[in-house]
Amino acid sequence: MCGIVGYAGPRRVVPVILEGLRRLEYRGYDSAGVVYLQDGKLTKHRCQGKLSNLEAIIDEAILAPSHIGLGHTRWATHGAPTTENAHPHSDCSGDLVVVHNGIIENYHSLREELKARGHRFTSETDTEVLAHLIEENLQGDLVAAIRKSLDMVEGSYAIGVLWTGMPDTLIAARNQSPLVLGVGENQQGSFMASDIPALLPFTKDVIFLDDREFAVLTAGDCSVYSLVSGEKVEKNITTIVWNAAMAEKAGYKHFMLKEIFEQPQAITNTVSGRIDPESGQVDLPEIGLADHELNAIERIFLVACGTSWHAALVAKYWIEKYAGIPVEVDIASEFRYRTLLINEKVLTISISQSGETADTLAGIRLAKKLGGKVVTICNVVGSTMTREAHGTVYTHAGPEIGVASTKAFISQLAALFLLTLYLGQRRHVLSNEKSRELGRALIGIAEVVQDILPGLETRMSQLIDGFFSCRDFLFVGRGVNFPIALEGALKLKEISYIHAEGYAAGELKHGPIALIDKEMPVLALVPQDAVYQKVISNVEEIKARQGRLILIGTEGDGHLKTITDDVIYLPAVHEDLNPILYTIPAQLLAYAVAARRGCDVDQPRNLAKSVTVE
Ligand code: M6R
Repeated sequence: MCGIVGYAGPRRVVPVILEGLRRLEYRGYDSAGVVYLQDGKLTKHRCQGKLSNLEAIIDEAILAPSHIGLGHTRWATHGAPTTENAHPHSDCSGDLVVVHNGIIENYHSLREELKARGHRFTSETDTEVLAHLIEENLQGDLVAAIRKSLDMVEGSYAIGVLWTGMPDTLIAARNQSPLVLGVGENQQGSFMASDIPALLPFTKDVIFLDDREFAVLTAGDCSVYSLVSGEKVEKNITTIVWNAAMAEKAGYKHFMLKEIFEQPQAITNTVSGRIDPESGQVDLPEIGLADHELNAIERIFLVACGTSWHAALVAKYWIEKYAGIPVEVDIASEFRYRTLLINEKVLTISISQSGETADTLAGIRLAKKLGGKVVTICNVVGSTMTREAHGTVYTHAGPEIGVASTKAFISQLAALFLLTLYLGQRRHVLSNEKSRELGRALIGIAEVVQDILPGLETRMSQLIDGFFSCRDFLFVGRGVNFPIALEGALKLKEISYIHAEGYAAGELKHGPIALIDKEMPVLALVPQDAVYQKVISNVEEIKARQGRLILIGTEGDGHLKTITDDVIYLPAVHEDLNPILYTIPAQLLAYAVAARRGCDVDQPRNLAKSVTVE
């Protein structure tokens, strides 16, 4: 996590860095800092908390006539979120600074050795070790010192380095943490950043650094080299299709609300061009697997974290039902620590908005190493997972800034349904008739979501009057909607800090039902599907124990109104697509509750959007 930005070029550097950091704040907001070089001297401003705190103290520095500098927004790993621990970190002389995203695993022993050699440390961070290590190895040649230092380091890093001895140059380097370079149009300078949104106001031409590469950035050049050999690496420039406005709030109070309302478009963008609207036949050449490889698949692992893991749980139902392939779903941080029976007949699919989540990345690396095929479903173009997988199915949700995943999740579901159809069709398990039915249902779901959104937002903001101050919340669902109960609970807890749990409705009586009394709100997903009667029985069990029920069910189902007044009706759609539809009220409930409680909806405490540490 953490976000880093660097710039060398004709613009004044501080506004460029602040603008970039603002777009990276989703990566962490425990502290922020900026450094720039002016008249041969480095000036550093750092402070605890959000970027707005830094902006408040930076004042006149914004006008500093400096054209080279670095910035950082932190998600604390080593050391408390204090000003002293805020980046950039300096060497003893104060002539060299480093910003860093990642973890230096052997920092402790390096720190002790450096201290023994007389280096003075001023923070508790692992990063500061890098500044002193480079200082220790610096004998006039900064590149050589950085290469030597990084060779001594274990762990993950994306770094930016600035030294008064090379006043026109920034050095960037990466290993296992994301870093992208921006090539300014019309001699507008060179940029580095942890993620694309930071570059969008300035350039759309980017170069993705790979592991063990470094870059030398000056106002007029951006060259990449191997950290191992020191030799120049020819890199492709990728032009990004996102624009800067896509990463703005566009009049919405929060990014999360804007992104919830962007979901119909996210579905359409993910689906269109990949499916024939008449026949429902899907074309996904980007999956990177030939027909004989697809037909040879005996098992699928779906590997993901958090909300993306919930998408995987839904996809298990779909793939097993329509493609006839056994699926195992793994939380990525667990996947790599068990005995994996993977061979060339096993397909591992990672699901990730960012494509940088450390645990998921480690999972696909392991699957590849064991000889399996790897495909990733990912939103961020050029991210590490997309470069390491054999194939990538992009979701086209656009940049997601709110820490809570919303449109990324919905577009993951759309992509996974497409993938299901593709697998079923290629393996001749899915009939033409079924393909047509499911394909049309998928294409139509965007419009249904579009239609329900405005009314649902209003209804939710009224409904939560009686619920927003609760201490706990339960969500229950069954079958393909069980993962949506998990997702609803995650959304609520991460942005409102209310304790919430999701359960398979039938599992309540095996323990959790003991929690139910007249204080306990329970949101139950009860669409009229194959397990409807079963869920209704579970709901009656909750009612009998005086639980405060909110029911989300199918339009026209009058029975629900006899159970509780708090019913939200959704249109009937193909029952296998209910997870897409039933997610929307759960998201809006979490949003309305968090906003009413005055929580920081887009940047909840302790979280970061992109979890690049294990
Ligand atoms: O970028 P990824 O999809 O790999 O991220 C996975 C999780 O960190 C993410 O979904 C997280 O759970 C969100 N905060 C949920 O809203």
